[in-house]
Amino acid sequence: MRAEELAPRYARFGVGSRLLLTGHSHQAWPDVALEGQIAAFDDAALAVDEKWSRAFAKADRVRAGFASWLGEPGADIALGANTHELVVRFLSAVDLTGRPKLVTTDGEFHTLRRQLGRLAEEFVRIVRVPAEPVATLAERLASEVDDRTAAVLVSAVLFETSRIVPGLAAVAAACERHGVELLVDAYHTLGVVPFDTAGLSDAWIVGGGYKYLQLGEGNCFLRLPPHAQELRPLVTGWFAEFDALADERDPTLVAYGPGATRFAGSTYDPTSHYRAARVMDFFVDLGLDAPLLREISLLQTGLIVEAFDALGLPESVITLDRADRVEFGGFVAFHAERAGEFQRALAERGVLSDSRGSYLRFGPAPYLRDSQLLDAVAALGEVAR
Ligand SMILES: Cc1ncc(COP(=O)(O)O)c(C=O)c1O
Repeated sequence: MRAEELAPRYARFGVGSRLLLTGHSHQAWPDVALEGQIAAFDDAALAVDEKWSRAFAKADRVRAGFASWLGEPGADIALGANTHELVVRFLSAVDLTGRPKLVTTDGEFHTLRRQLGRLAEEFVRIVRVPAEPVATLAERLASEVDDRTAAVLVSAVLFETSRIVPGLAAVAAACERHGVELLVDAYHTLGVVPFDTAGLSDAWIVGGGYKYLQLGEGNCFLRLPPHAQELRPLVTGWFAEFDALADERDPTLVAYGPGATRFAGSTYDPTSHYRAARVMDFFVDLGLDAPLLREISLLQTGLIVEAFDALGLPESVITLDRADRVEFGGFVAFHAERAGEFQRALAERGVLSDSRGSYLRFGPAPYLRDSQLLDAVAALGEVAR
């Protein structure tokens, strides 16, 4: 489906007349998303507290949607408002006392960076493996795994550089040998890079729909491995009790429900799921599936790189990693000391991008026309000169 056909379906976000190059952070919501929001209000008004059975049906639709993006229909999916709350529940379930070591990279998003950093101030030792060179990252992570390690936490695509981390199955194999948990942050894959869970059946996969899936906030997931059923998260909400059989021998024991219920939280705003369910149906109706979205993304990021090269800007001012585009995710990460300044100057020219440290990120989206991408790169040429 061409951008010209898609853009009118995003009229409220005005995508046809704005240069929204922040698609890797938050894409526009299709107009039908509003139907979901209104349905959430209507159900609350109509059914009052009985609305929860309807809300849970939406949550089930969202679970099924994430499972389908992972290519694992029937997977156990716990939902959360953000990845942080799911990561915290995960960390609260692993044996940090008996195995006080966590292995991660220095290229993780702030959710992991900060939370693990704070844990390291207490009783846990964090090993931060340099994310670069990414080609050997999996191998270097695997070599840090030992019997004192509780978990390895790593992204499938690095949020600063857009590089896909190859070989995660080898990390999973090392983890399995030592009884270590593996958590993969797949946020930068779903809806833009097909994510292959082969070799990762025992891993925990976290991600969400605020970016490429156009679901808006409040839509994150944790795909549980089968052995999650043996763990008892310390951070646990009362929704995890649904369907739990009370232990008759010891009523003081905290019981957990089956499947993903085990990792549930408690009362939440279901509006996000209504919106997400509607948008997931929209993607299905339009045939916006993983291979097509990857194809569009590669064409768009390829065009941005080509246009950038044609500008002939000095490498000392701004440059980018020349590896094959298939080794990258859904955005182009330019390297520039003045990335923040460029981002602000671009915003003044109506081009919305973002910067992370010395990286300026351009994230296209399927509803953007080629001419819009070219205009954005031309503006970059102006500000960099
Ligand atoms: C790799 C990655 N993980 C997670 C997040 C979001 O984290 P949270 O849901 O905790 O806000 C982002 C960006 O927003 C990200 O880039």
